[in-house]
Amino acid sequence: MPADAYLARRLRPFTTTIFATMSELATTTGSVNLGQGFPDADGPEELREVAVAAIREGRNQYPPGNGIPELRRAVAAHQRTWYGLELDPETEVLVTVGATEAIAATLLSLCEPGDEVVMFEPTYDSYAACCAMAGARPRLVRLHPPDWSFDPDELAAAAASPRAKLVLLNSPHNPTGKVFSAHELGQVAALCRAHDLLAVTDEVYEHLVFDGTHVALATLPGMRDRTLSISSGGKTFSFTGWKVGWVSAPAPLVAAVRAAKQFLTYTSPAPFQLAIAHGLGLPPDVLHRFAKELAAKRDLLCDGLAGLGYEVYRPAATYFATTDIGPVAPGLSGHDYCLALPGRCGVVAIPSAVFYDPADPAAGRTLVRWAFCKRDGVLRDALARLASWSP
Ligand SMILES: Cc1ncc(COP(=O)(O)O)c(C=O)c1O
Repeated sequence: MPADAYLARRLRPFTTTIFATMSELATTTGSVNLGQGFPDADGPEELREVAVAAIREGRNQYPPGNGIPELRRAVAAHQRTWYGLELDPETEVLVTVGATEAIAATLLSLCEPGDEVVMFEPTYDSYAACCAMAGARPRLVRLHPPDWSFDPDELAAAAASPRAKLVLLNSPHNPTGKVFSAHELGQVAALCRAHDLLAVTDEVYEHLVFDGTHVALATLPGMRDRTLSISSGGKTFSFTGWKVGWVSAPAPLVAAVRAAKQFLTYTSPAPFQLAIAHGLGLPPDVLHRFAKELAAKRDLLCDGLAGLGYEVYRPAATYFATTDIGPVAPGLSGHDYCLALPGRCGVVAIPSAVFYDPADPAAGRTLVRWAFCKRDGVLRDALARLASWSP
């Protein structure tokens, strides 16, 4: 019987993820895993202590469905401090199980079947799956290397579609590491206003920026009232397993998302909410220091890959660098290269084609994504292993 025999048709394109395949290959081959984006060292000890203390103090029963007040207040304070956005923590902040649930609940609650969601391709992998669950359709606008720019006419055409409902914008962007410029965000905002579209922003890498500045779309003229801003504590504080995320938006939009969220998970783990609330209250210097440490890892990996002959698209932010493998693996697709790499060199990476529409097999064909949120010794080991690659 085929593996997806029971699976509803709308989810059949989403059965096996490349991350599971590659992580399994990493284990069976003893490879260095630069595939999935999680750090190999935990974040600040004081956050772990807050979570442990919360468990010991008995914060272990269902917290309020919209999140504990401490975290809602911390998110509101964070948005004020970093972006000058004023939010009512009672009605304009909703805590979720990671950004993943925030994205799912947002699309499920806002989209009617057949609505189009404008998004930039390559896309983070949950977007298309959440669209499918919501009965919505991705409307893709391509980002082009080396600077991952887009054609403004292509964006304008997508936004002008009569079925377009919202723009789902991921900046800083996974997998490319692009930080959308104020000018580009201005183009997105103008189209949202012109066509009365909502905007949903995925800003989980907002504090992992090395070059340039992250601008929150909600701060642009006319955008506060039509933007749902999503983020989470996983990447910012190096606790990706805690899965504490949030949505902030005007009260009626938050109420809509809450309607879906309450029947997905109802609430999120209380001890981790407390710990992330504490993290959001850390002085901005601490977050700047995390980004600086990660920038050094970006440089270590990117310089190393460039030295080995890869064409490197140095990211301005995030956990990930993209390379074109053309110069070191002529004729090979990123997919075949990534399948061969664990056995031949003992390293795992992700073929970027998985972030493109499968209907276009040429898209991202020779691109490969590498995670650099790893200890320096691990990155050096990976580079030493990659030196043994020969075409
Ligand atoms: C762009 C993007 N959005 C959302 C997520 C998921 O965030 P969370 O772990 O908070 O659910 C990730 C994780 O890799 C991501 O890269």
